[in-house]
Amino acid sequence: MTQQSLVLVKPDGVKRGLTGEIVRRIEAKGYTLARLELRTATRDLLAQHYAEHEGKPFYEPLVEFMLSGPVVAMVVEGHQCIPGFRSLAGATDPTAAAPGTIRGDLGRDWGLAVQQNLVHGSDSEESAAREIGIWFPA
Ligand code: CMP
Repeated sequence: MTQQSLVLVKPDGVKRGLTGEIVRRIEAKGYTLARLELRTATRDLLAQHYAEHEGKPFYEPLVEFMLSGPVVAMVVEGHQCIPGFRSLAGATDPTAAAPGTIRGDLGRDWGLAVQQNLVHGSDSEESAAREIGIWFPA
């Protein structure tokens, strides 16, 4: 079933010049880009995007991190691309992420309050529909 996933290159990935490498891996896998935009997030947008994490200890550092520079927002498309991109991304913790994945190959733990883990990918069809509506309103 063709799916769409909301993928973000987070500010650490953009600052480190890894956008091209991340897009390369997505396209090499055979997924296509339906949207791609360099964006500066806002508190309001992030409050919607990260609503499920509100109140967690890493929530405020996460929002500050996501406001620390531009992000690249994409809508990635392809059969089973929601779980497929999460496989490409690897585990949330870049130290634990397997080699061969974006986070495992390119990410590391910087000892900060938030895991700077280069990318975000929607975790379900429901999240994808919600997140695409937040980042790319019709
Ligand atoms: P993501 O899964 O895209 O969305 C939530 C983000 O919060 C996650 O990526 C990490 O950047 C961050 N995060 C998740 N869990 C933790 C944690 N235990 N400590 C610090 N940051 C976290």
